[in-house]
Amino acid sequence: MTKRLILSLAVLPLLMMIAPSAQAAGDQKAAPHQHWHFKGPFGTYDRDALQRGYLVYRQVCAACHSMKRVAFRNLEDLGYNEAQIKAIASEYTVTDGPDEEGEMFDRPARPSDYFPSPFPNKNAAKYANGGAYPPDLSLITKARHHGADYVYALLTGYKEPPADKKLLDGQYYNPYMAGHVIAMAPPLSDGMVAYSDESPMTTEQYARDVAEFLTWAAEPEMESRKKIGLQVLLFLAVFAAIMYGIKKKIWADVH
Ligand code: HEC
Repeated sequence: MTKRLILSLAVLPLLMMIAPSAQAAGDQKAAPHQHWHFKGPFGTYDRDALQRGYLVYRQVCAACHSMKRVAFRNLEDLGYNEAQIKAIASEYTVTDGPDEEGEMFDRPARPSDYFPSPFPNKNAAKYANGGAYPPDLSLITKARHHGADYVYALLTGYKEPPADKKLLDGQYYNPYMAGHVIAMAPPLSDGMVAYSDESPMTTEQYARDVAEFLTWAAEPEMESRKKIGLQVLLFLAVFAAIMYGIKKKIWADVH
């Protein structure tokens, strides 16, 4: 009996050593956990980070990646007011129509419009990117494990390929990508996006901010979900206290 127990205790650390490597199947490097403002039961998005992240998406990522599920009016969550959102939207052009003559036409975007896509369709997107499809980023942080950590690791994780790894034209080495090869050139470099606050204009900071922005896009309801959860807990606690009081009163005379 004790022998068995000792044996199973000895096996336990072994299992624990095997488990993480089994999880990283496909030899993809696990993204290190970053500290995020929005993590934890009280975590909220950092408005300034979201605005900077949107700027990075808009000036860099939007050249290749669509975000079809986000409308300009959703930018209210980032702390922009109505007039600012109107102004932002009007800088974009969307295709509308058909008009009375049956023709499609371009017009400035309105707050109710969704972010226009950089390519008219999937084939055009692939053709422009050497055959690789830049995925829509609206839900990317939900579509990948530890989404924000993954996006940050991917954007900052480009490396020189090991000597035995041959890359084709248009392929880049990135240990965080499944298979270690990605068809996206490193999109960020220091100083490429001008921030108006004091935040460092570095690849790391851009990657952090855009990862937070993409998390918001995938989970805009996160803050209200947490708030409601806390309110429910608070209610249950108060309710339990009241019930305890009532119970004591009712049973007070029973000895
Ligand atoms: C010049 C075009 C281009 C730009 C700019 C660009 N990407 Fe990409 N991206 C791609 C392509 C192409 C792929 C598909 C790569 C593949 O499948 O190998 C991709 C893939 C991705 C993926 C998915 C990786 C996966 O796990 O499948 C993410 C996340 C991503 N890009 C984020 C970004 C972010 C964030 C930015 C802006 C900072 C950005 N990209 C800028 C072309 C681009």
